Amino acid sequence: MDDLALTGPTLRVRIPREEDAAALFEHASDPEVTRWFSWGPYASPAEARAYLARLPPQRARGEHLDLVVEHLDAGPIGITGLGELAARDRRAVIGSWLGRAWWGTGANHEAKALMCHLAFALLGLERLGAYSNVEHARSQRALERLGFRREGVLRGYHRHAGVALDVVIFGLLRQEWEAGGLPAVPVTVSGGPPPAFVVGG
Ligand SMILES: CC(C)(COP(=O)(O)OP(=O)(O)OC[C@H]1O[C@@H](n2cnc3c(N)ncnc32)[C@H](O)[C@@H]1OP(=O)(O)O)[C@@H](O)C(=O)NCCC(=O)NCCS
Repeated sequence: MDDLALTGPTLRVRIPREEDAAALFEHASDPEVTRWFSWGPYASPAEARAYLARLPPQRARGEHLDLVVEHLDAGPIGITGLGELAARDRRAVIGSWLGRAWWGTGANHEAKALMCHLAFALLGLERLGAYSNVEHARSQRALERLGFRREGVLRGYHRHAGVALDVVIFGLLRQEWEAGGLPAVPVTVSGGPPPAFVVGG
């Protein structure tokens, strides 16, 4: 069943649906939101629909597990996802974007708490990595606040529009997650994780 959802006090992260396209288009048509990405801003709702249509096979193959961040009252506010799964090493990387109105509201903290519960408690991962452009101070600060540790700079690591960019690599190990504040966020799980992403007991 493709029905995973994790619900916290104000947000849910869940498998995306076709009807999320309108809200995702609205948020990611803002160039500030996609400034640090290789894609965007969305110019039409069709781009959001095409993105959503690519997700199910990527999820089934264990390539990307992108989930909609849904505010329990306001509806979809962004995307958070796991990629670069290495089952043998029990690690993946996390990436996220939220609509501009949700920055600085605590939504990122709650969404990351839900995703860490998914990664460590449900999937059995031992490490979550995260990349941030060397100049993306806000994202770096946000990761550090969550307990991710800055580990170094990866040179020429991401290509955007033909240009190779340096990124900071951050990491959060299972024991650091357990000792930090994120597990204090209450989480209710429904449905099951995609089997390709379950790597440990
Ligand atoms: C990255 C993102 C998910 C973080 O969520 P957020 O709600 O903005 O993050 P927070 O408000 O929890 O944390 C940001 C921190 O950076 C600080 N900050 C903001 N602008 C800053 C700047 N220019 N320089 C340094 N720090 C900055 C904030 O003050 C805050 O730290 P504080 O709470 O200690 O004051 C969100 O900004 C986003 O969706 N951005 C667009 C997509 C994106 O770039 N994703 C990341 C790709 S690596």
